[in-house]
Amino acid sequence: MKEVVVSAPGKLMLLGEHAVVYGKPCLVTAVNKRLNIKVSLTGGRDFILNAPDVSVRSYKKPLAMLGRAETPKGAAFVEKAVLNFKERYSFEEGLLLETDSEFSSGFGFGSSSASTVCVIKALSEIFERKLSKKDIFDLSYKTVLDVQKTGSGFDVASAVYGGTIYFVAGGEEIERIDNKSFNLIVGYSGTKADTSEIVREVAKKREEEKEKVDGIFAAIEILVENGKKFMLESDWENFGKTMNENQVLLSQLGVSIGKLDHMIDAARNAGAYGAKLSGAGGGDCMLALSPPDKLGDIRKAIESTGGKIIDIEASAEGVNML
Ligand code: MEV
Repeated sequence: MKEVVVSAPGKLMLLGEHAVVYGKPCLVTAVNKRLNIKVSLTGGRDFILNAPDVSVRSYKKPLAMLGRAETPKGAAFVEKAVLNFKERYSFEEGLLLETDSEFSSGFGFGSSSASTVCVIKALSEIFERKLSKKDIFDLSYKTVLDVQKTGSGFDVASAVYGGTIYFVAGGEEIERIDNKSFNLIVGYSGTKADTSEIVREVAKKREEEKEKVDGIFAAIEILVENGKKFMLESDWENFGKTMNENQVLLSQLGVSIGKLDHMIDAARNAGAYGAKLSGAGGGDCMLALSPPDKLGDIRKAIESTGGKIIDIEASAEGVNML
């Protein structure tokens, strides 16, 4: 049985969330917690998916029915990715897909985008189609938009390119910044955020208070540009200050919550260069940028607020074959 195994990293937004949905840039890093997919040709004519991490077991459909009839929530991105690949590159062979995740889909690490990218990469390998990184990004991003309607694509780009990237919505600019010399501490708030819902709430706020919200986005853009410069110079003190300023703006947007605020305050009081929420807000994770000698203190401080530390390394490799 012909099979391939592909792996893509999770991601963490460093600076620029929400504003990136409105055409502004952001900085995102890929993390060494990965999502793996094994794709095998079965010799049949069905699409079969096992994705235990999202409670999908032996979900089966004839290939001709992809995108039709009901799809379990946990299978939506994978099924759409297979359908989009099939429509573009055409194949008739039945497939078995098995996913295996090193992180919970509740963390906000981008499990949907990582699994979408894995599927497109795996199918390109198994059917021997030469796809560039940009081709994989474009088809994966189309898939994500087909399923969830909103999203800048920063998570898709992170899964494809890896490293730390400067990203402009839709992949208009994707620039790798290869600096690995920073120490991030990630704290999980214990609540899963509904990203699409929060993005809709921000859109509603923008309708009601356009000038204010556009002012916040413009200020975030400046922070991202400064942050990129500080990162290239390894100026972590100023990068941390930029994170703190970004957090003030995210609070003004109304997307932070008490639990995240406590974790962020605790990290700063324990000596972090800076700390902020990461992603849509409303739950998921916060990040602290730590001086090398404060890692233990900051971890303890976050834990003392009830946050759960998730051990990660930043700037991980993008999608690859195992
Ligand atoms: C969510 O992780 C980040 C947002 O900027 C949405 C997006 O960029 O797609 C809020």
